[in-house]
Amino acid sequence: MNDKMDFLQQNAPCYLYEKNLIKERCHTLLDAMPEVDFLYSVKTNPFAPVLKTVAEQGFGADVASANEVLLAQRAGIPYDKIYYSAPGKTLQDIQKAWGKCTIIADSLSELERLEQCAAAKNDRIAVGVRVNPDFSMSGTSAVPGKFGIDEEQLKTANLCFQHLKITGIHVHLCSQILEANMLCEYYRNCYLLAERVNELNGVEIQFINFGSGIGTVYDSATEKPLALEKVGQTLQVLRVKNNSSLQAKFILETGRFVVCNAGTYYTRIVDRKISCGKTYLVVQNAMNGFLRPAIAELLR
Ligand SMILES: Cc1ncc(COP(=O)(O)O)c(C=O)c1O
Repeated sequence: MNDKMDFLQQNAPCYLYEKNLIKERCHTLLDAMPEVDFLYSVKTNPFAPVLKTVAEQGFGADVASANEVLLAQRAGIPYDKIYYSAPGKTLQDIQKAWGKCTIIADSLSELERLEQCAAAKNDRIAVGVRVNPDFSMSGTSAVPGKFGIDEEQLKTANLCFQHLKITGIHVHLCSQILEANMLCEYYRNCYLLAERVNELNGVEIQFINFGSGIGTVYDSATEKPLALEKVGQTLQVLRVKNNSSLQAKFILETGRFVVCNAGTYYTRIVDRKISCGKTYLVVQNAMNGFLRPAIAELLR
């Protein structure tokens, strides 16, 4: 405790992360869903020691930029566990990430760009496609989205390339689901989608990235934790089905579940004042260091 106080005296304002808590959260997921390969969504918190801790538990990386590919590499994550999925990848981004990860094409034009790139390098690579499916998280039909290729468009597109092979799909519709039935239904729908996409010419599904959705409790007074064992059982049933059909790798991405409770921001109170009877404590480096709650409060 004294060490911590000494550290804070010298370093605050700063964040402190609890390594053991991050490890515990990772293992909660790994234990509940042993048949799944987990990726950590690097954008959630790319701080190197956080990333390394998650990587050491066996997680791969879901990355949303070429620089995040490099961060994941530096954390020791091998290329076959890094998946780069983001809209608007430039040629420069693609070149930077080439050979260091699996690239997930976010549009039909990006597939063309990847093909040109592979042809120029005389390479042949496996890629994934992010799909905007014919279903939503709440069970309705397709909704417009800026991420991925509409399932309807995928059905009629040319997916046969000389230098690319489409070997997987990625879907992510919604974060922060605490309702297990909804998440299970979504996973079942994703699996059926993978079977449909597998029927298309030029595709041979080897991985299904179901995205995230795994929710975490922010307010225990109003929220109940997601029933992970139920989600795990559903994935187990899908796994059995998968064993006799696609034999694909199951991938889940997660960000907030593993890290959001592990960090605490420490800062100093530097002034105290009263305005119209209300007391304000002025802290050092408030909005710069902890932007989100500050904005949320300002918006109220
Ligand atoms: C594609 C994708 N995957 C994973 C995540 C991580 O979501 P969460 O932090 O809710 O697990 C996000 C969050 O926006 C995302 O956009």
